[in-house]
Amino acid sequence: MTTRPDRPKVAVPAIAARKRRDGAEPVVMITAYDTPFARIVDDAGVDVILVGDSVADNVLGFPDTLQVGVAEMAHHVAAVARAHPRALVVADMPWMSYHVAPDDALRNAATLVRAGAEAVKLEGGRRRVPAVQAIVDAEIPVVGHIGLTPQSVRALGGLRVQARDPEAAAELVLDAKALAAAGCFAIVLEGVPDAVAAVATEAVNVPTIGIGAGAGCDGQVLVLHDVLGLSDREPPKFVRRYADLAADAREAVARYASDVRSGAFPADPETYHASPSLREALAGRG
Ligand code: KIV
Repeated sequence: MTTRPDRPKVAVPAIAARKRRDGAEPVVMITAYDTPFARIVDDAGVDVILVGDSVADNVLGFPDTLQVGVAEMAHHVAAVARAHPRALVVADMPWMSYHVAPDDALRNAATLVRAGAEAVKLEGGRRRVPAVQAIVDAEIPVVGHIGLTPQSVRALGGLRVQARDPEAAAELVLDAKALAAAGCFAIVLEGVPDAVAAVATEAVNVPTIGIGAGAGCDGQVLVLHDVLGLSDREPPKFVRRYADLAADAREAVARYASDVRSGAFPADPETYHASPSLREALAGRG
């Protein structure tokens, strides 16, 4: 196992230049929502920490990502930023924080930057170009996100693979080009067939970061709780689970409970012992 504790701080231009066709290493992005996990994923050497709105369903118990707003996202962004990671910190703009008007989107992006984000991510293609331009014009770096966009769950009628026919694939490529032209420095491609992601990747000069989009992207992103086996739900097909921390945690807490009930915890080493004089003073009281 290799960790990269001594690497330099990752900045936006370094990520923006990571095209695999130019010989670059794939971008490694993963989510984190709090300080301890931000430290862990940073020590492991990821390039980008995404404070995803997936905090809603992975940490806060909501059924989808529509239930968190800017205040909740800022709270989690600040927790991640307090880890002072070398990885770039990207914050998801939550649903309805960039849909009303570009100046509203800009104000909300600024709130996330003041909380500690170094860039923001928002979902949608050509129709989001005015919001992207307003945010980029204020020198806030933006990551686009197209394909399966979880904030559109109601309109899509569920979380389904997108761009499965030639027309939809062509629309997706147009969206990728429009986001790149508007100034996005990277684009997440979620839940699209591998060949479509490869064409979109070839069509833009900024890196594409895939999640359920095959091996042809310039990088990959996964949800930390899926990677660590911390979520209760059956993970989607595109997830590779590298640990089963939920099972480990359940077993550890069950052992603690059993030790308390049997009297095996606390034992001598876990106890502050009274001095002989204190014992003497206490003797006979009570
Ligand atoms: O919120 C999130 O975790 C995301 C990833 C799935 C890309 O947007």
